[in-house]
Amino acid sequence: MPIRVLPSALIDQIAAGEVIERAASVVKELTENALDAGATRIEIDIEAGGLQLIRVRDDGRGIARAELSLAVERHATSKIATLEDLAAVMSLGFRGEALPSIGSIARLRIVTRAAGEEQGCELNVEGGRAGVPRPAAHPPGTTVEVRDLFYNVPARRKFVRTAATEFGHIARLVERLALAAPAVTFRLRHNERLILELPGASDERSLAARIGRVVGPDFLPRAVAIEEHGGLSLRGWLGLPTASRAGTDLQYWFVNGRSVRDRLLGNAVRLGYRDVLYHGRHPAYILELRIDPQLVDVNAHPAKLELRFRDSRAVHDYVFRAVERALAGTRPSESVPAAAALTFTAAGRSAAATQPLWVDAPAVNDVNRQLQWLRGAADTAVLAEAAAEGERPLGTALGQLHGLYIVAQNSTGLVIVDMHAAHERVLYEQFKLQYEGAAPAMQRLLEPLAVHCQAAEVELLLEHEADFSRLGFELAQLAPDKLALRAVPALLAGTKEPRIVLELDYWALLPRRP
Ligand SMILES: Nc1ncnc2c1ncn2[C@@H]1O[C@H](COP(=O)(O)OP(=O)(O)OP(=O)(O)O)[C@@H](O)[C@H]1O
Ligand SMILES: [Mg+2]
Repeated sequence: MPIRVLPSALIDQIAAGEVIERAASVVKELTENALDAGATRIEIDIEAGGLQLIRVRDDGRGIARAELSLAVERHATSKIATLEDLAAVMSLGFRGEALPSIGSIARLRIVTRAAGEEQGCELNVEGGRAGVPRPAAHPPGTTVEVRDLFYNVPARRKFVRTAATEFGHIARLVERLALAAPAVTFRLRHNERLILELPGASDERSLAARIGRVVGPDFLPRAVAIEEHGGLSLRGWLGLPTASRAGTDLQYWFVNGRSVRDRLLGNAVRLGYRDVLYHGRHPAYILELRIDPQLVDVNAHPAKLELRFRDSRAVHDYVFRAVERALAGTRPSESVPAAAALTFTAAGRSAAATQPLWVDAPAVNDVNRQLQWLRGAADTAVLAEAAAEGERPLGTALGQLHGLYIVAQNSTGLVIVDMHAAHERVLYEQFKLQYEGAAPAMQRLLEPLAVHCQAAEVELLLEHEADFSRLGFELAQLAPDKLALRAVPALLAGTKEPRIVLELDYWALLPRRP
């Protein structure tokens, strides 16, 4: 085929592929437009998971009659005019791409009335072709209707899941947006059934009610508030370890009012939790970062979900330290028994811990030996406080449960220790001491272990060789994609698993590779 310029409708469809992945993407774009227009009330009606109908109605500024045709043209926006504007953008939209993209893959109808205009007007777009604006009745504000999503893009339709699944995505999205804009009233209906009604929050109490409605009533009572101001500001709630989860579903990040899923920010929080969360558990949190818009590029992802910070290291460290500080204040004190750090990890680990306890065959000698090495941890951070009070934090052993748990009693009650978790914890604390101390205890391997990894990983490992050797690992390069592990930390003596160096949580510390 000869080279040719594509017809503009096809160009729009291709662009739409980037922006509109599913029905929820349409809801996101329309709702963000409503928020940018200063709406105080947004009503969202969905039919058949959004495939039949998506209607978003707002009471915002509206679109002037003279500008309505422009609103559905590509690269037409009222939100930025120059490169400087883009660099400091605070609105959710700025590309002038959403409406034309939607108009190219669905039947689009906009009815609007701008503040100050006497009459509203209406515009239809079909197959990427816009009609002419006509007078229509509408209160101040805008209604955008999107029907028959993907009707002319069969390839996309194939990827559409059931209406229930698609609606699930929409509901989660609206919840996120509602947390990002707590003062705005949201109402969401599916097939004419009211699903979500969130009145605008005007004070702490109504805000707490909204949060409870979105993430469940258990979150706030088990969270600490965080509030830090400086060059940046960070506000929100950090779930206590007892509120940790098996997945990352209760993690909300907002940056300058925009809901994002940014890896750098996620990693920074995870790192802040590293001392209080058992491996495999995920923190629950709602966090908002305010930052000078000049220091963050929001034009880095087609759906604007990821960001690029000008100084990503500084942002990472700021968030990490703030989270760590906020959580440090929640360390076991009067309300939490001293062994909580161990018991909460046990609770998260297995249902067995919550089932009736039977102490069978006490095997006292064994238990005492177990307790001895556990007490080795008594001078580490977790257990130090209780020890200072003159009591062994784990008290007296009563017995052992299925070889998995130690059951003991101390003055505050029953203590159940997950032996595996405790062992990991002890190792971890020892590693930390060793990392901070002078010479790590190394175990030289008689025969080096070969570690096969990606070339990029090899590069990264070697780049951070000094850190690894402080932990007790000795590495050497054998080939572009192969390393030799010559020594391992004495604490891990006997390891036969060379890939351990790739599994260290240490990676969370490193800035994301491009
Ligand atoms: N609900 C609304 N209320 C008022 N004006 C609106 C509304 N929706 C769209 N507009 C106007 O239409 C223009 C085009 O909207 P569109 O969503 O296509 O682009 P954008 O929001 O500027 O950028 P982006 O593509 O990043 O969303 C907007 O700049 C805005 O002026
Ligand atoms: Mg927009």
